[in-house]
Amino acid sequence: MVKKIIVGNWKTNPNDPKTAKKLFTDISKSLRKFKNSEVVICPPPFFQALFYGLKVSVILGAEDVGIESVGSFTGELSPRHLKTLGVKYSIVGHSEARLRGDTDEIISKKIASLLSEGIIPVLCVGELVRDNQGEFFKFIKNQLSKSLTLVPENKLNKIIIAYEPIWAIGSLAERQATPDEAKEMALFIKKTVRELFKIEKAPKILFGGSVDEINAEIFIKTDGIDGLLVGRASLNSKKFLQIISYAG
Ligand code: PGA
Repeated sequence: MVKKIIVGNWKTNPNDPKTAKKLFTDISKSLRKFKNSEVVICPPPFFQALFYGLKVSVILGAEDVGIESVGSFTGELSPRHLKTLGVKYSIVGHSEARLRGDTDEIISKKIASLLSEGIIPVLCVGELVRDNQGEFFKFIKNQLSKSLTLVPENKLNKIIIAYEPIWAIGSLAERQATPDEAKEMALFIKKTVRELFKIEKAPKILFGGSVDEINAEIFIKTDGIDGLLVGRASLNSKKFLQIISYAG
């Protein structure tokens, strides 16, 4: 059975290492019963090192990454450092990182660097608004084609894509997406990536944007959706475990 991928994106939370450790441990110790989920936690970079070498079933992820692995790049997050810390997945192109200036070109370079270190990129795409003419489909297609240009053909099958409509993310979300909207876009992304890059196997698609312990069940069971990217609800171990339980 193909496992569902549940990614927790902690963003700039929690406030201190003690709380981070407790949250991580509370989640990891309850995971054994879930055999059908691959659970990835992406803590802020300062907290990643706290989880280095722990024998737990949670997979360590990163919220973002720099481009360069070695050299003089003050303040950069080296993909190689992530690798040595045991990081297996890294979010890239999150809408909050795009807001701070990450262009598709930068994102494409980050993805190539991650792949060269053997870390799986979770590329976020998502439109700011939905229009009635369906222009947002073109917007997503453009994000996909530009963000994936530097990916070697034989590595395209490693990439995971998270569809996160910006209007549905965070406490300022306009509304939640409907499962039909998520399904339609997940299938569109799969088809687009297959066509753009002439590959047979479609990438896995995660859905994100106000996923919580109530709506997760329907999203995880929606056609075309291979997992979830969870922000706020991943900061509460009970809620996050409830979300994982739907994947089983
Ligand atoms: P949210 O965040 O679940 O709090 O909406 C998701 C994200 O930004 O990745």
